[in-house]
Amino acid sequence: MGTGVMETHTHSAEQPKHLLDFQGWNRAHIESLFETAKMMQEVLSRPVKKVPALTGFTVATVFFEPSTRTRLSFELAARRMSADVLSFSGATSSMSKGESYKDTLLTLDAMGIDAYVIRVDAAGVPHQAARWLGKPIINAGDGWRAHPTQALLDAFSLLERLGSLEGRKIAIVGDILHSRVARSNAELLPMLGAEVWLCGPATLLPGELPRVRLTTDLREALHDADAVMALRLQKERMDRGLLPSEPEYIAGYQITHERLGWAKPEAPLLHPGPMNRDLELEGTLAESPRSLVERQVANGQAVRMAVLYHLLVGRKG
Ligand code: CP
Repeated sequence: MGTGVMETHTHSAEQPKHLLDFQGWNRAHIESLFETAKMMQEVLSRPVKKVPALTGFTVATVFFEPSTRTRLSFELAARRMSADVLSFSGATSSMSKGESYKDTLLTLDAMGIDAYVIRVDAAGVPHQAARWLGKPIINAGDGWRAHPTQALLDAFSLLERLGSLEGRKIAIVGDILHSRVARSNAELLPMLGAEVWLCGPATLLPGELPRVRLTTDLREALHDADAVMALRLQKERMDRGLLPSEPEYIAGYQITHERLGWAKPEAPLLHPGPMNRDLELEGTLAESPRSLVERQVANGQAVRMAVLYHLLVGRKG
């Protein structure tokens, strides 16, 4: 691979301009993105992990909410492809003086930005940004609504381990109600052929979600599952006493070595992070051979390189 990555790679003409959620994205788009992500994995395996694919482009990471994995992997992803990166944090910005989302984003845009990666607690801001700015927008998590690059790296990691998701049962366990990761996986994984079960206490389950099964019964969710994903309890979003107590949650829903035995023998275990250790997962499970937690983080960089590349360079039409 010389300049790049990508001379031989073709893309569907209809690939959406933005990655806000999976509206407008189809299985062919996702599979094309994953082919590029595999090429990016090869770039990341080199002694010099850099290609000039995005030379001349400037990517803004605009985070109105905290992040470790998403922000850092996007910034590394952009730099690995030689883009300039403008890194914005809401907490230390002039928003503390009352500047609006729109004025903040228009101010950044005046500095010459080519694509935006946006995380925000207010659902829908990335959609508004797409209208205000006319540049590719990548949703890095908006409220409870969507976190599409997390779902992409989850699906990519599952495909790496399982080979195919066709007919595979994937159980996602925990605080489904507040989870943008669960919602994005509930959109993406069925598109790739998987059967998705969402499981948690009744107070932490949404009323219904299309294309997936909802259950409060952990044994039913984990029975014969091909993969298990535990989610973080989002205590910062729980303002109504939705969780009786942590010991009760652990008694009913913690993923333990014993309960993982209800799934298929080799079923991998995922967690999007950050983890509340000994709450969502029994202590040592994250380091067990079945855990994909570190692999998810590593794959996040390759997948985000592919997303940036597809939205900035690879899209036709
Ligand atoms: N999984 C995830 O979005 O992690 P961060 O909040 O650290 O980005």
